[in-house]
Amino acid sequence: MQKDPTIAFNQVTHTYEGKYSKKFAISNLDFKIFSGEFVTIIGPSGCGKTTILNLIAGLLSPTNGDIYVDNVPPNNLLSKKSIGMVFQSPAILPWLNVFQNLLLPLQINPSNDNGSDNESLAGDILSIIQMEDYADFYPHQLSGGMKQRVGVGMSLIFDPKILLLDEPLGSLDEITRSYMRFDLINMLRNRNKTIVMVTHSIEDAVLMSDRIIILSKSPGTFSTEIKLDFSSKRTHDLEYQSEFLSYVNQVKKSLSIAYDFKFR
Ligand SMILES: Nc1ncnc2c1ncn2[C@@H]1O[C@H](COP(=O)(O)OP(=O)(O)OP(=O)(O)O)[C@@H](O)[C@H]1O
Ligand SMILES: [Mg+2]
Repeated sequence: MQKDPTIAFNQVTHTYEGKYSKKFAISNLDFKIFSGEFVTIIGPSGCGKTTILNLIAGLLSPTNGDIYVDNVPPNNLLSKKSIGMVFQSPAILPWLNVFQNLLLPLQINPSNDNGSDNESLAGDILSIIQMEDYADFYPHQLSGGMKQRVGVGMSLIFDPKILLLDEPLGSLDEITRSYMRFDLINMLRNRNKTIVMVTHSIEDAVLMSDRIIILSKSPGTFSTEIKLDFSSKRTHDLEYQSEFLSYVNQVKKSLSIAYDFKFR
């Protein structure tokens, strides 16, 4: 028997209502994500991807339908720090160095229940994100990829069970991006976390995740899903293998059906 899903969307609709307008961001969206999965949600700009992450995090509430995270509505989890979020542009403060930025979530949100020492925790994270040599560097002294690593580090500091990634590589050039993908895989996979990433990038989705959920164009709803089961390890070499290309083509085909257009 299959276990309860870690994240469940049941016929979820979200509308943003202004004084004069009403915008359907997502419509009757259904999906389930299970513990330990790395799922990527892919869809065109404006189809509601960031809205979905904010709903999972409990920062927004659905207009219709139900969302369960660990069997409870997600706003009940807000204070438990069980969800970490990585943003498209890393939310790091320019006047603090790398180490101080990593400490920041702990200082804003002191948790008295785990007796561990903040500085040693930040030191551990520094090593996970491979930034030990840059602890006293300020953000303006870092490359885009390094800043993104600090953003990932800040999201890991409370050791959340669920990690939400909003276009984590979106601000990087193509070469840095292709390296950072594998850095992220090394930082995040095999840490017993449930990961939900949203992106426009087919390559990121195929190389990084276990399953891809494809959304329709706006308002986003479930179109189809593709399970990724590579026979070899997720390393750079994978990009040149026929398995990878075949998955990329499969995703492209599903996207062209979902959006009703052709890739040229
Ligand atoms: N706070 C808001 N108020 C009103 N409308 C909003 C708000 N946030 C998002 N929207 C609208 O909801 C729709 C979905 O937005 P969302 O940011 O979730 O899309 P997205 O898929 O993340 O897009 P992108 O890929 O460009 O980041 C868009 O039409 C957007 O204009
Ligand atoms: Mg977005």
